[in-house]
Amino acid sequence: CTAWTPLLTAQDFPAFTDLKPQTELPNPLVAMSGQKITTKEAWEKSRRPELKQLFQHYMYGKLPAVPEALDVKELCLNRNFLGGKATLRELAVRFTLPRSSSTADMAWSKHTIYVLLVTPNERLSPAPVFIGMNFCGNHAVVESEQIQIPETWVYNRCEGTEKDHATAKGRGTQADVWNVDLIIDRGYSLASFYSGDIDPDTADFADGLNGELKPDLKFAGDDAGTIACWSWGYHRVIDALTKHAKEVAKGNSRLDLKKIAVVGHSRNGKTALLAAAMDDRIALAIPSQAGCGGTAPSRGTVGESVKRINTSFPHWFCDEFTNFNDEPARLPFDQNCLAAICAPRPVLFANAQEDTWANPDGQLEVLKAAAPAYALYGKRGIDSDAKAEMGKLIGHELGYFIRPGKHSMSRVDWQAYLDFADKHFSAN
Ligand code: GCU
Repeated sequence: CTAWTPLLTAQDFPAFTDLKPQTELPNPLVAMSGQKITTKEAWEKSRRPELKQLFQHYMYGKLPAVPEALDVKELCLNRNFLGGKATLRELAVRFTLPRSSSTADMAWSKHTIYVLLVTPNERLSPAPVFIGMNFCGNHAVVESEQIQIPETWVYNRCEGTEKDHATAKGRGTQADVWNVDLIIDRGYSLASFYSGDIDPDTADFADGLNGELKPDLKFAGDDAGTIACWSWGYHRVIDALTKHAKEVAKGNSRLDLKKIAVVGHSRNGKTALLAAAMDDRIALAIPSQAGCGGTAPSRGTVGESVKRINTSFPHWFCDEFTNFNDEPARLPFDQNCLAAICAPRPVLFANAQEDTWANPDGQLEVLKAAAPAYALYGKRGIDSDAKAEMGKLIGHELGYFIRPGKHSMSRVDWQAYLDFADKHFSAN
């Protein structure tokens, strides 16, 4: 066998027109060179890094650099949350960024990520942590006057929004989405942060992290799209929890940072899966109803298409991705390869029956086509003849769940997430 070197610079990536169309989901174990990967070593040394680069180059854009410095300040502490069952904190996380894209010189960013952290008081061993990016602000996730209201842009559809900004009327309005009481009762912690703290979900590049990274606002090629910036946000929350873990351990709670699960719904689910693929500190991923650009095949013919998503949300992916609008078959990967990068870590695709926009059936095929990477680790992944069963978790390290109903994240979903996490975290 010849040694294989991963692609490194933009010049090494074939132009869109030189990529050969493939109608089937590409095999994660066949490298760009055509070489077949048969061992864990070859996968980890060459094909896995290659896939990480391909996804960043052709689809999401390059994730921003890891900050040189990160500062965590505790803004509030309530050890008597949920009738004494939990401790509530909010952290303010600040970080450095390169002063401009052409220099390595770092400066403190204008942005602050606020992290809501709820930990169980009654658990004796360290608690696994769910990290979830939220849609409406931390103040909406739990009922508490202590939590900050975001000052940045928020979605109009979030309750209590006035003139694109959150108000106190939104407090606790997403409590039934996040089900913090259930998470705590099951012995887990939750760290949640608002996507807009990183990059507001608008086509305006100037209003978020990207505006700071590229003050000239010239976005092209594989410059990071919003989903790449958001997934980088998940990574910074891990940095912050790692930094703050000693402080947390002074109280009743301890965090088990070897058991970090990421969760996100829909666009935030696309983000959670990318975050897991790009950072091995994440032990388990649960993208909920993530669909196109996340868990559904880009080559799929059901629900949202690549062209449609790039048209409706021009800021989510990098410019390169628009080349594939009419020919997704030229993508040198599909979303099965993103799940494959996560191997051998458990990944659950959660779905809702009426959410055909997110192509639930196509997602099951994506999982099956990710399984060969899990097999390299002796893991079962998901069986090739697995069939969806309404309301029931199926699969192994690659799990699939579908329940009746519409596009949303609910208590029933959380029960399935927690069952999946219990199954895999207790096995290790
Ligand atoms: C739209 C979009 C989806 C996305 C969803 C959401 O429906 O087309 O790609 O997942 O919004 O984030 O709720």
